[in-house]
Amino acid sequence: MPNLNLILLGPPGSGKGTQGERLQEDLELPYYATGDILRAAVKAVSDVGAKAKDFMDRGDLVPDEVMIGIIADRLESNEAEHGFILDGFPRTVPQAEALDKKLRELGRGLTAVILIDSTDEAIINRLSGRRVCLDGGHVYHVDFDPPKTEGACDIDGSELIVRDDDKPEVVSHRLEQYHEKTAPLIDFYRKQGLLNRIEGTETPDRVGESVRTLISTLSLEEGS
Ligand code: AP5
Repeated sequence: MPNLNLILLGPPGSGKGTQGERLQEDLELPYYATGDILRAAVKAVSDVGAKAKDFMDRGDLVPDEVMIGIIADRLESNEAEHGFILDGFPRTVPQAEALDKKLRELGRGLTAVILIDSTDEAIINRLSGRRVCLDGGHVYHVDFDPPKTEGACDIDGSELIVRDDDKPEVVSHRLEQYHEKTAPLIDFYRKQGLLNRIEGTETPDRVGESVRTLISTLSLEEGS
């Protein structure tokens, strides 16, 4: 398998985490989901967690310099030398520019940006029914992807809870932030010829199929 340096882009709740977990298993690449990294930092009461918590609770973006530092550390590590999957980063144009700069320094470049797109209406529906497990952050939906046993994670058995930022008023603010600050990245990457749009309103399995087909094409191109 050739080295793949991938970004998963898309509105909150479009299915980046759901597809990211599957991709990680398929490709065996390190998977850096900034939301998960920040939630772990908040739980551990670390410096980064203390800086991020209020922003996250309000549905605001965490300042660029905090996020850029988090990702730069990981990309510089040996773990990511044969490729990576970024989920939730970059989320602003300055973050995207900092990522380009860091990859240039490392003599690398992006393979592709996968936009998992969705409508605001579908997102509100999804986030109101999302449940995540307390220990591992595994993701479910009460209607679209329910656990085998109600209220418990299939993978680690821990309790399923509602994320603090999935409250309706916070979800609408997250969507506003997405349209204002993150959606400009669609054009940013389209202009670089890196953007690949996937329809995210299909079922999780159909979205997964589209992602797999795209990855096969990218792998062939990278290998040729
Ligand atoms: P983050 O955790 O990254 O939140 P997000 O981007 O808003 O994405 P979500 O995790 O909400 O959704 P998702 O697209 O992964 O969807 P999922 O697969 O779970 O970030 C949280 C916060 O951290 C931000 O608000 C910000 O404060 C901060 N932050 C993080 N990165 C940052 C950065 N770079 N800069 C600044 N701040 C940053 O799916 C959602 C639900 O739908 C689930 O219930 C799932 O089961 C269901 N579902 C998934 N796919 C389908 C489908 N195809 N059909 C039906 N249901 C589906």
